[in-house]
Parts: sequence; structure tokens; C-alpha cells
Amino acid sequence: MSITAIRGMRDIYGPEMRQWHRAESIFRDVADAFAYEEFRTPILESTDLFKRGVGEETDIVGKEMYTFDDRGGDSVTMRPEMTAPIVRACIEHSLLHHSPTLRLWYGGPQFRYDRPQKGRYRQFHQFGAECIGSPHPEADIEIILLAHETLRRFGVSKFQLEINSLGTSDVRLRYRQALVEFLTAHESALSEDSRRRMHANPLRVLDSKEESDRRIAAGAPRLEDFFDEASSDHFRAVRTLLDVAGIPYVVNPHLVRGLDYYNHTVFEFTTDALGSQNAIGGGGRYDPLFAMLGGGEVPAVGFSIGIERLLLLWEAEHGQMATAEPHGIYIIGIGDDARIPVQLIMLRLRRAGHHVVSDIQRRSVKAQMKDANRAAVAYTVMIGESEIKTSTVVLKNMVTGEQQTIAQSEIERVVSQHE
Ligand code: HAM
Repeated sequence: MSITAIRGMRDIYGPEMRQWHRAESIFRDVADAFAYEEFRTPILESTDLFKRGVGEETDIVGKEMYTFDDRGGDSVTMRPEMTAPIVRACIEHSLLHHSPTLRLWYGGPQFRYDRPQKGRYRQFHQFGAECIGSPHPEADIEIILLAHETLRRFGVSKFQLEINSLGTSDVRLRYRQALVEFLTAHESALSEDSRRRMHANPLRVLDSKEESDRRIAAGAPRLEDFFDEASSDHFRAVRTLLDVAGIPYVVNPHLVRGLDYYNHTVFEFTTDALGSQNAIGGGGRYDPLFAMLGGGEVPAVGFSIGIERLLLLWEAEHGQMATAEPHGIYIIGIGDDARIPVQLIMLRLRRAGHHVVSDIQRRSVKAQMKDANRAAVAYTVMIGESEIKTSTVVLKNMVTGEQQTIAQSEIERVVSQHE
């Protein structure tokens, strides 16, 4: 039986790869515009990092992690997200000793053993950014604007920004108690999942997709009613800054996010275009996380975007994947005597930095021309018996169809002029 990729893990190739490159380069540019520096962490981390950082009661840690013992007997986990690893690295390398603010971005594969479907994979990829060291709403807004600018530049618009505030950690704790009391009174009408979550992670019941849970959630105590002054002030300031920036948003009081480390602002970019996997990206403030990992009191806020979902949204809005712009040069050799001249011309053009390709199957001229068309090159350079004798080539502009005979020594100059 032939071997296939593991369920929920995809190969990325062909025209889709161009979209990945475009997404990667846009995110790199946006992160640079916001003065964020790239940070790379290992794919494997110690399992405790996520148990402590993401929370034992969350879906991610409870049932989705790729965890195994390595050959030395240590429990290791393939990262399901990047925030805990980044915080681990900041603490490990004392990065905040050198600067009160760290602005970091990252991109790469994440692993969650979730039920695969469109937009949900077991290996997926995220871009993200973390703004570490500031407790102020300006940091929240910087992160939301960075995420928003990425979506804007990528060319998607069918999304909305949902925001909410979980208040200070104190508020969240008091609210949690009240919520558990309320849910206990309605326990028999809750879905099985929510009954299970009710004590371990009661806030998640609020964003359940089950109709029965939604009806009960609608009558649940409101987090906002538990806010102290610090919680209200912070949330108001974030909303004012969003208004000032002209970024539309809706306040969703049921948005709680699935990870334990959040307080104050949480947000998600959601879309109706992708069925049930409606979150393209999300994040929030996570002031408790440094302390949860033994790093003292360090406020921070961040987000991650799912790259696969970003690409699916682009496709839903624009149709199939973007076609490539004509690019590069195809060298067509006519006859056996052309083989060496073709190699020499290619060498020169490649050294001059051009994208150059030729046939390596010794095919007919007609087949080479077909191949050049398929390769969507900007130019073909044709060389046969008479061109070899006169040290010339026939250069064809594949966009305009214009054709001219030029000296071989002129190719770089002519091609550069037009490219
Ligand atoms: P998250 O909401 O778990 O947050 O994931 C962020 C994004 O990753 C989601 O909105 C979605 O686009 C994508 N994603 C998650 N799971 C899958 C999957 N199975 N298949 C495809 N895409 C997926 C975090 O990971 C936090 N670390 C975000 C953050 C950064 N908070 C603060 N800083």
C-alpha cells in the first residue's frame, strides 16, 4: 500500500506556494513597519510549558497535544501555539533586562490533534506578534492594528473584528464563581460538553456553538457587571483608540478565547466565508502568563493569524489562487549544436541574477515552446544554427509577442531594460 501524508497534515506546492510566499512577505513587511523583530523557537518544547502556560483544563492541553516521551524519557510536546514558547524564551534569556519593551514576531508550523476539516488541520501554520512589557492600551491597539494591517494588505475584507474584555485577573476570578453558580442551576439543560467544562473552564460555555448552550448563555451573568474601575478604563481606552484609528469592531460579550492566560482585552478576526472554522486570527492581553511560567510580573499582549485560513478566505473572496506574473527567461535550443551555447547563455544570465530555465529532456522546438508558455516566462531566447554562426539570438517578448534578433553579448542589457 502506498504511503500518504498523515491525516490533517498537508503538502504545500504549486500555485498555492506562491500565495504562501506572498503571505509571508506581507507579514514580514508589516511586522517590520511596526518595528517587530523575528523570533524563532524550537518545534519541540517540554510538555510542562504548555500544561502551565496554556492551562491543563483547556481543549488544547486536555486533548489536542502531540506529546510523547523522547528517547531519554522526557515528556516533550510539538508546540500547539507560540505564545508560551516565546515567553519561556524571554524568561530563559532574561531579554527584558536589556529593554523594557520587546516587540517580537514569528511564523511557523503548530500542531493540534483536532478533528480535521476544511480550515482545520493537525499541522497548521501561524504568523503572530507579541508586544511584551507594557500594561497600557496603546500596546493592545498596536497589536490589533498589526493584525488588521496584515489582513488589509493581503487583500481580504470579508471579516469582522470582535473584541471583549475579561477584566483584571481578580474580576475574572469573581466572575467565574458567579458563572459556575448560574450554570449549576441550569446544568440539566446544558450540552454534555458544557457540563464537562462547567467546573474546569466555565467561561468556555459562553462561546459554545450548541443551540441549547447559547440559550442559557444569553441569560448568564455579564462579565461587564463585575468590572472594577481598572477593567472599565482599560477597555474604554482600547475602544477609543480603535475608533480613532477608524477600525470597525463589534463588542462580543461571549468572546472568551480558549486559552487560560488572558485578561483584559481579547479579540478575534472572524469571517462567515469559511463555514464553522470562522476565526482567522485571535489574541489578547496575557498579563498572567509570565508569572505562570515563573517570570514575575510582566504585562504582554499578542495575536496569531492562521495562514491556511487566511489563504482560504482570500480564495473565497477572489476565486482561485492568484496567477503568477510573467517572469524570467526560457532558453530554446534548436539542434544538437545549440546545447553548449544554451548552457553558456544560461550561466551568464543566472550570474546576472535572472530567473532562467531550459529544456533538459532534449525535446523538439515545438515542445520547448509549449513548455515556455506553460512556464509563464516573460521572454524566450532562441538559438539555432544561423544564430550560432552570427553570435546572435532571437529574443521574444512573451507578453507583447515582439521578436528581435540581437547579439548574444546584448542579452543581459536588453532583458534588464524590459524587466
Ligand atoms: P488561537 O486562537 O488558538 O490562538 O489560534 C490562532 C489562530 O490559529 C486561529 O484563529 C486560527 O486561524 C489558527 N488555528 C488554530 N487552530 C487551527 C487548526 N487546527 N487548523 C488551522 N488553523 C488553526 C493562539 O494560538 C494564541 N497563541 C494567540 C495569541 C498570541 N494570544 C496572544 N498572543
